[in-house]
Amino acid sequence: MTTRIAVLASGRGSNLAALIEYIRSTEVRSSGRVALVISDRADAGAIAIARGAGIETRVLTTAPDSADELAALLHGAAADLVVLAGYLRLVPSAVVHTYRGHIVNIHPALLPAFGGPGMYGTRVHRAVLDSGARVSGATVHFVDDAYDRGSIIAQWPVPVFGADTEETLAARVLRVEHMLLPRVVEAVAAGRIRLGEDGRVHGALETAVPDAVFTLLQRPEDATLGHDITTALAR
Ligand code: GRF
Repeated sequence: MTTRIAVLASGRGSNLAALIEYIRSTEVRSSGRVALVISDRADAGAIAIARGAGIETRVLTTAPDSADELAALLHGAAADLVVLAGYLRLVPSAVVHTYRGHIVNIHPALLPAFGGPGMYGTRVHRAVLDSGARVSGATVHFVDDAYDRGSIIAQWPVPVFGADTEETLAARVLRVEHMLLPRVVEAVAAGRIRLGEDGRVHGALETAVPDAVFTLLQRPEDATLGHDITTALAR
């Protein structure tokens, strides 16, 4: 049975695009498909990307913190799995509870550090740089009632270099996000990863960070990184 995925996104939508592309890729026999994209902003790039891909879209017309409209949209789409891909609002707790274990978020740093209210976009990367941390990365976690706090499913690292700016670090993390999120979504959709009653995550990604990827990530020059990582993962 195909898992019906609803994606919630507030902005650009590059993670949505990566997920759509991964599912469509002929090499992947995906367990899920994106059935609906919901945004709190009509001008979100994610809405345009979804339309371009022939995926149904909805823009919230009521306050994003009220559960009713969102719950009705998810119910109407018969969504089995909710993916927050750059969604800047707190998902109302009624929805979080309905989808417990079936709602995931991607965060552009290694949680539990550098997360929580107000930690989004370039602020995350600024905080990482200011902290002096030498490693950052991407985290995908199950969603609970608080921003960025739910059980961690998978994390892939990237190095932080002395010459990094928010922009260069964001770009490096984003490339890893685009590979990590689709793989986690696929594993959750297929039931290979699930949230236990005790809040522990059962199962894991079959693709750990391959040594080859980590070696490639040590290089400061980013020009061919995305291609190199994809090639390394395919090995
Ligand atoms: C990503 O960095 C994601 O981790 C964060 O918001 C950003 C969304 O980017 N939650 P995009 O809209 O997917 O391009």
